[in-house]
This record gives sequence, structure tokens and C-alpha cells, in this order.
Amino acid sequence: MKQLKVMTIFGTRPEAIKMAPLIKKLEAEKAIESIVCVTAQHREMLDMVLDLFDIKPDYDLNLMKHGQTISDITVGVLKGLEEVLKKVKPDVVLVHGDTSTAFVGALAAFYQQIKVGHVEAGLRSGNIYSPYPEEMNRRLVSTLANLHFAPTKGNYNNLINSGVSANEIFITGNTVIDALLQVVKDDYLFQNDLLNQIDYENKKVIAMTCHRRENWGTPMKSIFTAVRKIVESNSNVEVIFPVHMNPTIQTLAQEIMGNVDGIHLIQPLEYEEFANLMNKVDIILTDSGGIQEEAPAFGKPILVLRTETERPEAVEAGTVKVVGVQEDNIIKEIDRLLNDKVAYETMANAINPYGDGKASERIIEILLNL
Ligand code: UD1
Ligand code: UDP
Repeated sequence: MKQLKVMTIFGTRPEAIKMAPLIKKLEAEKAIESIVCVTAQHREMLDMVLDLFDIKPDYDLNLMKHGQTISDITVGVLKGLEEVLKKVKPDVVLVHGDTSTAFVGALAAFYQQIKVGHVEAGLRSGNIYSPYPEEMNRRLVSTLANLHFAPTKGNYNNLINSGVSANEIFITGNTVIDALLQVVKDDYLFQNDLLNQIDYENKKVIAMTCHRRENWGTPMKSIFTAVRKIVESNSNVEVIFPVHMNPTIQTLAQEIMGNVDGIHLIQPLEYEEFANLMNKVDIILTDSGGIQEEAPAFGKPILVLRTETERPEAVEAGTVKVVGVQEDNIIKEIDRLLNDKVAYETMANAINPYGDGKASERIIEILLNL
């Protein structure tokens, strides 16, 4: 029997985390030949995930340059993939989400007239400049793709409203939950000893991440200043901030939050470490997309450091609140969670609108029934 040749293309940390469970299942499926191509838009942050899930790419474009621009990525990925796709000739290419690797991966496959499956399809913020450039990337992938794997009914509706045919859309849940269920354990012992030493019982512990391009500059300064002020005025608060490796963010985080007692600026954590940290802390502050999907499963209040979200499901359930990027408002919202027990308990709901851990299985079934 001829195997279905499926090539997964990805390049950054979040895509790797969300593609990993799918790749493990593709590799185990006899009717499928799985080929993995990484662009390495990220390097260290990608490799940490590849190591954790024991994924060995067949092709590695090794593109990351320090301080790269969106155009650098676009040009490099398009040119690099042309050669790989011509050589491998997959039956279908799978891309994930909304990075520039995802958009250009879909475009490169289209140029070779190869079918494109879009994992995590149909998310929309409604503003093409926020998140930037992700909202445009995801719209472009929707136009290029032939199969759309939508995590939720809301994502399905967005695709229908964008003119995608109903018979090309499949509601699968989000593969991020498949990944999360594999790594979180209640008795988890951290490899990073700092995380074992934090007094989770007696302190109010906040985990935070922040990296989005539309937050660079004034918004990010306001966010970092707000968190610094919270820690300076509450001696029982500790903040753990694994800082994204992007130099723009590293520099600003050090400038505003470096050398403050109670703020731990650390290197990006391995996925297993970060997921288990979310399970232990009291509050999560983030502008990340993936964390908005993962954290609700732990029942921890999440304040989203953005002006909108393309992930409204957990907001509707009350666990996630979009608090914007104004310093005063961020301080007010964190203060409320620290000091108002009722406000905290109201947000601390464990919910899981993003899936049941079986999204990868569903995607493979759909591919095999093509
Ligand atoms: C990218 C994606 C964004 C995604 C994010 C996840 C685009 C345009 N942006 O943004 O959608 O949410 O990844 O984290 O696709 N760097 C390292 N080592 C690494 C990774 C990054 O040193 O392992 C540094 C490099 O200097 C690199 C810079 O970070 O040039 C920026 O990386 P890039 O992928 O361009 O942008 P992100 O902000 O990470
Ligand atoms: N994450 C991680 N280590 C960290 C911080 C985050 O493994 O130090 C994980 C997190 O659990 C989530 C993903 O990285 O699964 C989010 O990636 P990122 O914030 O880079 O991108 P986004 O989701 O915003 O696209």
C-alpha cells in the first residue's frame, strides 16, 4: 500500500509544542510517511522542544539570525523550502497557526501545487495589526490552505465568515492540550532549582511572559513598570519571568525589572518546566497565545497583556481577562487578584474549551480519509 507522504513544517517554540504530539502520532501511523522540516526561525527555543519530544527533523533550514526582521524570515523560508519541497514531493504539507514560517510554508507548498493542511485554523482578532503580523499571517494561510483544522466552533464560524467551504473545515480541538497532558504532573520536581525553592504556600507567586511585537516600545515599558511597582509595594509577591530570547525584550526587561528583589528574570524554560510552573503559581500574566489556551486548564486567573484576543473562549468562561497595556489598569487588576479573595475565586475556574487531548488523533483520521 502506498503511504501518504505528510510533511510538517514549523520553526518556532509554540509551533513545535503544538505540532509535537501530532508528529509522534504521524510517525506511529503505518499508512503515513512522516517527514519533518524545521525552518529554525527560532533556534535554542525550538531545539528545547525537539529534544523534549525526541523529534529529529529530516530537514533543517537553520535560518535564525539574531535580530532578524519579518522580511528576512519570509525570504529565507520561501527560498529554502522550494528546494526541499521539490525533492520530497509530499502529498500534503501541514503548517501551524500564525507565524511567518506558517504563512510562507503554506505559500511555498502552494507554489509546488501541494495540498496544505492548516493546524489551529480560524483564529481571528479582527484587527490586522494586532497581533502583528500574526493576524495577517493566519488570514493568508486560510486563503492558501485546502484543509482547515479548527480548534473550536468559534474558529469554524470565523472560517465560514472568511469564505472557506464548510467541507474543508474540521473541528478537532487544539493539539496544545494533547501536549500539555503529556507533561504536567502534580508531584513534578523542577530541574531549575530556583523553581523548587520558591515558597508557593506562603507567597503570592506570579508567572509572566511577554513578547508580542505590537507591545514593543511604550506598551511593554508600561507592562514591565506596572509589574515592578506591584512587587515593590507587596513584599509577599514573587514574579517568575522566563524572558523570551528576542534581544529587544531581553534588553527592556533587564532595564526595568532587573535587580528588583522578588522579580526573577530567567532564561526561557523547557516546556515541561513552564507547564508545571503554571500548575503551581497563583496568577499568570501573559501576552502569549498558547498560554491563554493552556492556563485555563489549571484554574489559574490569567490577565492578558493585550488590547484584544483571538481566543475569546476562556474569557467567556471568566478565567481569562484582557487587561490592556496601560500601567494603571494593569496595577489595578493585579492588585484586585492579590487582595480581593472573591475576585480571585471568581476567576480561578478550571475549564478546558480548547480540547480533550485527542486533536492529533482526529487530524490523522481526517488525513487518512482524504
Ligand atoms: C516569533 C513569531 C511569533 C510567535 C513567537 C513565539 C513571527 C513574525 N513571529 O516571534 O508569531 O508568537 O515567535 O515565540 O513569525 N531568538 C533567539 N533564539 C531563539 C529564538 C529567538 O536568540 O531560539 C532571538 C533572535 O535574535 C531572533 C529574535 O529572537 O532574531 C526574534 O525571533 P523571531 O522568530 O523573528 O520573532 P519572535 O519575536 O520570536
Ligand atoms: N513556554 C515555554 N517556556 C517558557 C515560556 C513559555 O515552554 O519559558 C511555552 C508555553 O507553555 C506555551 C508556548 O511556550 O506553550 C508559548 O510560546 P510563545 O509565548 O513563545 O508564543 P505564542 O504562544 O505567543 O505564539
